[in-house]
Amino acid sequence: MSHQSVKRLVIVSNRLPFQVRIENQKIKLEESDGGLVSALKSYLENTSQNYSFESVVWMGAADFNEKQWSKILDEKLLSFQYEVKPVFIEKKIYHRYYNGFCNATLWPLFHYFPSFVEYENETFASYEEVNRLFAESILSFLTPGDFVWVHDYQLMLLPQVIRDRFSDITIGFFLHIPFPSYEIFRLLHKPWKEKLIRGLLGADLIGFHTHEYVQHFLQTVQMVCGYDHEFRTIHLPHRLIKAEMFPLGIDFDKFNRSISIPAVITLKNSIEKNFEGKRIIFSVDRLDYTKGITHRMLGFEKFLEQHPEWKEKVVFILVVVPSRQVIFKYTERKKLIEEEIGRINGKYSTLSWQPIIYRYSQLSFEELTAMYAVADVGLITPLRDGMNLVAKEFAACKKNSGVLILSELAGAANEMGEAILVNPMDQQDVATAIVTALTMPEDIQKEKISKLQQRLKDYTVEHWMNDFINQIHEIKTLQQKQETKYLSRTPITELTSAFRNSNKRLLLLDYDGTLVGYARHPSMATPDKKLIELLQSLAVDDRNDVTIISGRDSSFLEAWFGNLPISLVSEHGMGVKIKRSSWIYRTDSEQAWKQIIKPMLEIFTRRSPGSFIEEKKYTLVWHYRNVNPELGFIRSREILDNLHHMVRNSYLHIIDGNKVIEVRVAGIDKGTIATKLIEELPYDFVMSMGDDKTDEDMFKAVADKGYSIKIGSGPTSAQFYLKNQTDAVELLHKFAHVSENI
Ligand code: UDP
Ligand code: G6P
Repeated sequence: MSHQSVKRLVIVSNRLPFQVRIENQKIKLEESDGGLVSALKSYLENTSQNYSFESVVWMGAADFNEKQWSKILDEKLLSFQYEVKPVFIEKKIYHRYYNGFCNATLWPLFHYFPSFVEYENETFASYEEVNRLFAESILSFLTPGDFVWVHDYQLMLLPQVIRDRFSDITIGFFLHIPFPSYEIFRLLHKPWKEKLIRGLLGADLIGFHTHEYVQHFLQTVQMVCGYDHEFRTIHLPHRLIKAEMFPLGIDFDKFNRSISIPAVITLKNSIEKNFEGKRIIFSVDRLDYTKGITHRMLGFEKFLEQHPEWKEKVVFILVVVPSRQVIFKYTERKKLIEEEIGRINGKYSTLSWQPIIYRYSQLSFEELTAMYAVADVGLITPLRDGMNLVAKEFAACKKNSGVLILSELAGAANEMGEAILVNPMDQQDVATAIVTALTMPEDIQKEKISKLQQRLKDYTVEHWMNDFINQIHEIKTLQQKQETKYLSRTPITELTSAFRNSNKRLLLLDYDGTLVGYARHPSMATPDKKLIELLQSLAVDDRNDVTIISGRDSSFLEAWFGNLPISLVSEHGMGVKIKRSSWIYRTDSEQAWKQIIKPMLEIFTRRSPGSFIEEKKYTLVWHYRNVNPELGFIRSREILDNLHHMVRNSYLHIIDGNKVIEVRVAGIDKGTIATKLIEELPYDFVMSMGDDKTDEDMFKAVADKGYSIKIGSGPTSAQFYLKNQTDAVELLHKFAHVSENI
């Protein structure tokens, strides 16, 4: 996918850029609130913008009916440069989805308010239903080459629903709120957890505001679905995707220049006049318990209490924007905020002064930027916030002075080190920060503001958007490279004809995961009659040297394959039986190390129900396939850590394999033995197949001497991939067919 080939950008979010209000039976359009709409609008409405798309569509849930929509279109009330596509959802379903699962389950949980979380199967069902409705709408007009960009926690299932029906479409997802640590995420019901994560994994690129959120997400993917990641790339069974950090920026110029707009200057002057001789502290947030408004007021109260010298010399202008007004936790918070304002004002006001000036309404852009410009201190103290754009906008609107106090629990804190960072729960910290801000020398304020502004200019909303789009191109290119490695019909035909045209062939075949599938216990993963017959029919052709090259011990291999005219390699090369001769073992290998390692593995086995130790002649293996996946993963990391300490500088080799950890003597691997076997005869056809990390040594040994095939996905040095073990056996059947027919 190149930039040019992207025809259309389809933005999908729950909120549309406007809301409908009915006034005197007339439709009025109002701006939507919140960081998501604010960011996307900034980008799309910046006329100097030259998008790399032929057209843009913004799809979102309608807060109006179809008749009203026709009116909006007829009366030409929309003046956007992009097309708007509303999704119409039945009121009851929307209510359960929006006020239920979105904002009474996901929102509180992802913001670390687990006690606020409601668990209702009904609301989850509506969440699924709305995600499906969005998918249907999108699929009705989607064409190849489109780039679908889904936004936020309301639509986490959508990427996979679209992918199921349109497998090669480009899908990006961006989460505007925090992704919590796994310890929090795991509190969701099990099926919800899995559906949400699998839903997101339908995207090609998943974006978050901070490094921490990316880490939390990757760990959650590992815990919930068992998929590994490497450098933020996740290896799905048949696709590579990526999770990355893209800290959302603002339209710096729009905010910075606003302070020269005449209407803003007029407003600013009138506010200054109103509060003449007083320093202004300002905050603006949606009414949300995550914003820490009540805690903030308590911090302000502590400041008033400890610093009477500031009496009548400071005002705190507190603007609260109405939000999600039918949810109990929101109406309750409104009450609490207003009670606190009444109490503090009652306690500290004088006849001519009131410490807190409260406004409960939306602000126009001019009012907002005038407030940013006039305030001496921006007091932004959310208890949790994905990013917090208000902090960035405040900094962008300052000229040479002004101090930002910012919660260290807002995503923005990662990029705004020059702000006074506070713990929003700590009233004393907030009170002290207010004094520090009010007494900060002007030259220091200027220096800090200029550094903040430089960073805001360096990564604006436009950079954010382009960065995301470039990354999605990169991941698409990577996917295409991987896709070409998958053995399609043509290379299989080529491989079979190379096999047909050769006279001396060496087949190096891994056992578990290649010739047979995995079972609960290795003793249960035995070859069936068909596989034995397949190997037999390959082996009877004298031109074929079939070798099973495995981690299994020689007694297992001998028991099942000892009668066949094939070669066997046990424990990755510790034992070798060339066809029709007997087993030869490496004799120089000492075994004392087992007595040191085994007791440690035994302790972990007792602490991890379902795990067991397999002791082979030269190898110890700790199996955790049957352990609870989360516990198994954690324990395996602990074991690896212990082992690395124990075997440091020693002659042992540790392998972090497929649900196993193996320890054996270093210096012997499938690569060394494969090299020896290849050199044994002048083969004109060599092919190696395997699925696990230990097979990589073999692939490297085969490199330019023949073909190498990785079964499954994941990083590999093999030339080709086959999707699964069944395909591997099928390829061998094709070879057997050639052998039988000549
Ligand atoms: N904002 C708004 N109307 C207002 C006040 C603020 O639309 O009356 C905007 C503000 O400019 C900012 C956004 O709302 O861009 C709030 O974003 P933030 O990330 O701070 O918090 P969110 O509301 O998304 O949780
Ligand atoms: C946050 C969320 C957005 C949401 C906004 C306003 O920024 O991340 O997805 O749109 O709040 O909330 P609302 O529920 O009014 O859309």
